Order: sequence, then C-alpha cells, then structure tokens
Amino acid sequence: MPRPSSRIAGIVPGGKDGWEVHFEAWQRRLAGQPIIMLSVGDHDFDTPGETVEACVEALRAGHHHYTQLPGLPALRAAMAKVSSRSTGVPTTADEIIAAPGGQAALYAAVQATLDAGDHAIVVAPYYATYPGTFRAAGAEFTVVETRAETGFQPDGPSILAALRPNTRAILINTPNNPTGAIYSRRSIEVIAEICREHDLWLLSDEVYWTLGGGGHLSPRALPGMAERTLVINSMSKSHGMTGWRIGWLTGPAEMITLLISLNLVTTYGLTDFVSRAAIEALENDYGVEQIAALYTARRDSFLAALSGMNDLIVRGSQGGMYVMLDVRAVEPDDERFAWTLLDAESVAVMPGSSFGEAAAGHIRIALTQPESVLADAAQRLRRFASAYRRKAA
Ligand SMILES: Cc1ncc(COP(=O)(O)O)c(C=O)c1O
Repeated sequence: MPRPSSRIAGIVPGGKDGWEVHFEAWQRRLAGQPIIMLSVGDHDFDTPGETVEACVEALRAGHHHYTQLPGLPALRAAMAKVSSRSTGVPTTADEIIAAPGGQAALYAAVQATLDAGDHAIVVAPYYATYPGTFRAAGAEFTVVETRAETGFQPDGPSILAALRPNTRAILINTPNNPTGAIYSRRSIEVIAEICREHDLWLLSDEVYWTLGGGGHLSPRALPGMAERTLVINSMSKSHGMTGWRIGWLTGPAEMITLLISLNLVTTYGLTDFVSRAAIEALENDYGVEQIAALYTARRDSFLAALSGMNDLIVRGSQGGMYVMLDVRAVEPDDERFAWTLLDAESVAVMPGSSFGEAAAGHIRIALTQPESVLADAAQRLRRFASAYRRKAA
C-alpha cells in the first residue's frame, strides 16, 4: 500500500500500549479459564431499562435521521442542565456541544486548543488515551507526575517547572482514572491560578463526576475559569451507557461555535435515536444514583477486605470506578506483579505503568464485578502477596 500519513502512524507508536495483560486474560477467559477480570473500565451490568425503552421508542417513532451538528436542541439543553449541576456554573445550551463519547469530546478539546508544535501539560497518572490524543493533534506534551505518597494530588511547583513558552493547555482528570484520587480544592485552585496567570486552557476530564461520593468540584466554578475551561463529560460511566457513545463538551459559547466546524468534518452530528434516549436519561437521571451507590459499596467492601495488609498499600481510591494498590513492598515491577497474579490466581488487573511512570509499582483494580467476586479477588490477592513474599525471602 502507499505510505500512511505520519500522523496516523504516530498516534500509537511502538505497538505496546499497556493492555497486554488485559488482552491475554481475555483470551484465556475465552478459552474457558475462570479468570476474574478486574482490568476493564466497563460496567458489568446493562444500561438502565428506562433508557433502553426510550431508545426503542425513538427508533419505532422514526427518529432515524440526521440531527443538528452540535446536538439536538433538547439534548444540548439537557446536557446544559447537568453541566450546571456538575460544575456549579449556570450553563446554557450554546455552551454545550454533544459528542459521540467522552473520548471524542476530549479529542475535540485538544484539537480546539492546540496547534501542531504547541505544548500541553498532562497530570499523571492519566487515562491511557491521553498521549495519543495529543499526538493526533501534532502537539507536544509533558507529563507531570503526582506522588503516590500524597495520594496522587497535583502540586503547583512541578506544573510550573514544566511550563514552556508554547504551553497552551493543562489536562487534568478528577475523579481520576486510574488512581481513583479526587483532587482537593487546594490542588484545583493552584492549577486554576497557573492557568489564569499564564493564559492557558484547562481541559478538565470529569467523566467520573457522579462517582465521587457527592460534592464534585469542577475548576470551571473557580473565579475567571469558565472562560478558559473545557469540561469533558460523558454518559458512559454516570448513566451506564459505555456502548452508546455519547458525551459532551462544556465551554465558552464562542469556542463551542468554532467546534461545530470540527463536527461538520468528523461525525456530522450524532445518532438520532441515541440522542433521544439520552435526553430522557439526562432529564430523569436514569441509573445515576444507583450506579454511584453501587460503586461506593463495592469500593468500601473491597478496601475493607484488604485492610490490615501492610504490604499492599491503598493510594488514592476515593472515587471513580477504581482502586489503586501500591505493590512495591511485594514486587517493584508492576507488570511482573500483574502477569504473575494472572498466572497464579487467575485475577486480571492493569499494571500501573500502563498509565504513566507515576503509577509504576502499582496495580489498578476496576470495581467492575459484583461484591462477591471482589471479595474472592481480595482473598486471592492476600494469598498471592504473602506467598510471593515467602518465595522471595
Ligand atoms: C478518564 C476518562 N476519560 C474519558 C474516558 C472516555 O469515556 P467515553 O466512554 O465516554 O469515551 C474514559 C473511559 O474510560 C476515562 O476513564
């Protein structure tokens, strides 16, 4: 074939993307091995029935057509209402553009704020698609690590040290994937101050905002930040709709208007009947409270089952769908830990280093199994860690 563009070939360079343990575990499961999959950030339950019914009705009612590019007016209005709640800033429909998922919203945010050769700062540990999303824009980025010992809270001096004359944006994610950390008000204020002083965009990935135990703080609510913050949101996690591909971006109306032209040349609007179901789900909060309560209960019981284990230290793990364990006292190489755990105990987890160096020496456990399965996994982890230590001694 003719040569592909360097842009497309450069999005995931090298081929190794950190998902090797997960895909091997998946293969073994397909081959009949009873693997406990704690490596994937997708719910183990279906979308709430009311949302499914709304979609079926919309299909039957003939909603099969193109929609307005930035989203159906009623969809943008429903998203604006949720954004008013999630960010605490009164939000209107012209400050919203709908997108086919949070990832597409993130892609749009990066395309809208960075030219090729511009620079961004990414606070780590980070969601695995972030580096590729910047590469797709031809932008450079510096990863600023947070420390496990401070519960993965960002700090001002290391962000300031990473600034360059061509820095245009900072990307943060709270509640965080993979650590489950919730950034403190102080951490967010410090980042907001840097953005204001250096005239930067803040890209704020808030797709887990409902899974933070209440009291979500969006940087958009801080003084002078609404004009320079783009909030990435999604119905995947909050409304149990990962496979529906629906999310949105909230930002200044002027930027949203510009973004409509990206929509014109990429997705050309959204799926009509999915949009109609999303409107109902957003207006009625279908599943939101139940899903949040489910993950809180899972996190509490899983952490309780691990308590007293001095050599598996819980870091972050305050919200979202994940628990982060520091395994360095057992095995400093997190990939080796994950592979050996898979072989010895048939439990699949993500090695922390898949999410950047800041999470090396950790494993990410997705709470995407029922409590009974998580209890079994905690037992296996305990057995594994103590046997590993004995073998090493
Ligand atoms: C932090 C973070 N941002 C964005 C996304 C993308 O979500 P979506 O399914 O809406 O594309 C995910 C998905 O796991 C995520 O964890």
